Order: sequence, then structure tokens, then C-alpha cells
Amino acid sequence: MIVITGATGNIGQHVVAELKKANADFRVMARNPDAARPKLGDVSIVQGDMDNPASMLKAFAGCDALFLLCVHGPTMEARQLRAVEAAKQAGIKRIVKVSGSPNTVEQHSPADTGREHWAIEQAIKQSGLEYAMLRPNFFMQNLLDLPAKMVSKGQTLKMPFPKDLPISFVDTRDIGACAARCLMAGQPLHDTYEITGAASSFAELAFVLSQILGRKVKFKAIPLGLLGIVLRLKGLDRWSIEHRKQIIRMFHQGSGSKASPDVEKITGHAPRNLKNFVNDTLAYWEGAEQI
Ligand SMILES: NC(=O)c1ccc[n+]([C@@H]2O[C@H](COP(=O)([O-])OP(=O)(O)OC[C@H]3O[C@@H](n4cnc5c(N)ncnc54)[C@H](OP(=O)(O)O)[C@@H]3O)[C@@H](O)[C@H]2O)c1
Repeated sequence: MIVITGATGNIGQHVVAELKKANADFRVMARNPDAARPKLGDVSIVQGDMDNPASMLKAFAGCDALFLLCVHGPTMEARQLRAVEAAKQAGIKRIVKVSGSPNTVEQHSPADTGREHWAIEQAIKQSGLEYAMLRPNFFMQNLLDLPAKMVSKGQTLKMPFPKDLPISFVDTRDIGACAARCLMAGQPLHDTYEITGAASSFAELAFVLSQILGRKVKFKAIPLGLLGIVLRLKGLDRWSIEHRKQIIRMFHQGSGSKASPDVEKITGHAPRNLKNFVNDTLAYWEGAEQI
């Protein structure tokens, strides 16, 4: 039996869909099962919260494998360390963890989340359990927020990245597929994977959008400080704004540029590219749907 945390989020919903498709034996842990049900459909959901170790022990009981993910933020490390402890106590044998972007996960990373994911990975390695660490790059689905809103209004796409900076954006559907394969794998796992798409860039995104929308989409690089102001006006908290700035500074140094073969190695198919992604999310770029 597999237990899935973070199932209602960006990646988790795809892990659930993949496990359903494979007819796997799994249950979901959610803080509010009634709120989770409409998102996940007909699956087994038990109440559990990473802030409440006793609830996790109940949710993990009788399971062999844990999909470990929760929202990032100042308490992510403490929450996930509690989950690792509960997994050991509940007799879980394998943890598949969604970690930070490749190259940001380091003991002395300049990014808070990079150091936190590193500490959680270490705790999992030291637990003696089997593991797969999935280190995903910049989610394509992040583009459905501010970038899709600008494009749907006919505006220039303005982002704090040089237009030709290589970025290997990855689709959360591919991350979900990798996670499901690792959860169901028959052989023992002690692996760390870099989950990326092909090398791409914001210039390529603007080109793909222009082709698919049939109108010129322009791109303009803006200073990082300007993004901070936009996000503050949007109501984002100080931690979330600083997190984005830390990661973007690392991307400027090339931390998100490498394209890894790991998605294809795990799933047997090439990762989705920006053209696939824009075609599948056209309603957002045309303004019919919004995050
Ligand atoms: N965005 C990126 O480009 C990027 C890149 C690399 C790595 N990452 C990493 O990806 C992860 C985020 O993935 P995501 O976007 O799929 O997540 P998400 O959509 O933000 O989903 C958050 C999930 O966290 C769960 N959660 C929140 N508080 C919890 C608690 N106290 N106990 C248990 N669960 C809790 C929620 O579950 P319920 O509310 O249902 O209980 C929800 O399903 C982070 O670790 C982040 O560092 C992100």
C-alpha cells in the first residue's frame, strides 16, 4: 500500500492520476478530506497533518511506500522531518520525496529551500529506508500565473530572466509520472534524480506562444527588484518573495539550465516540451481560465 501526501497540490494530483491508471493500491493523506475529495475523485482519503505526528502514524499505518511533499515555506523542513520520523515508526520501507531544483539542493545553498531540502534528504538517507529523491526544475505550470495573465491581456511578457538564458522547464505531469513509477518500482531504490524538460528559454516560450496564438508575443527582461514590487502588490508574503528572488539569482548563474535524461530514464518517454504544454493549457493563455 502506498500513501500520498501533498495529493491536492500541483504534482500530487498527477501522482494520484498515475496510480489510479495503474490500478495501484494507495491512499491519500489530506488535512481536510472533504475539501480534497472534489479534487481527487473516488480514492481513499484519510485525515492527517504534518503538524500532528499522531495523525501521520494513523495515516501511514499498514503502508510500505510514502510519497513525501508539502508546500514550501518556513516550516517545510520541520514538517517533513516529522513525516520521516512517522514513516520509520509506521514501518514504511520506501520514501519518494519531491525535493528542490537540481543544483539548489546543497548544505550551504544560497536558497533557504535548497538547504531545507538538503537536510530532509539527509534525514531520509540516514533513516535506512529506500528512497528516490526527485529534484524537479522550474515547473511549466508556474507560467500559468503572471506570465499567462500578461499574455492573455495582449501585453509584453515581462520576467526577470535574460531572454536566452537556458532553462529546462518541466511539466508537473512528468514529475507525477516519475513519482508514480518510483513508488511502484519492484527493485530496491537508493537514487537521486534530476527531473527536467529539454533546454529551453523565455525567448522560446515567446516564440511558441506567437506560433500557437497566431500573434506576436514579445518578451522583455525586467530587473529582479521590479518582480519583488509586483509580488508585494499581489499580496505575497515576505518569505515567498525572498524565496523567488533567491532561486532566480541562482538561475541567473545557470543552476536551472541543465537538461537531464532522467524523465526518459524513469518513464520511458521524453519529457513534454513547451509546445505540448502551451497547447494543453491554451485556455489560460487566451484568458478563458485563470489561476
Ligand atoms: N514551483 C517550482 O517550480 C518548484 C521547483 C522545484 C521544487 N519545488 C518543490 O515542490 C514542492 C511543492 O510542490 P507542489 O507545487 O506540487 O505543492 P503545492 O501545490 O504547493 O501543494 C502543497 C500541498 O502541501 C500540503 N500541505 C500543506 N500543509 C501541510 C501540512 N501541514 N501537512 C500535510 N500536508 C500539507 C497540501 O495538502 P492538503 O492541503 O491537501 O492537506 C497540498 O497538497 C515544494 O517542496 C517545492 O520546494 C517547486
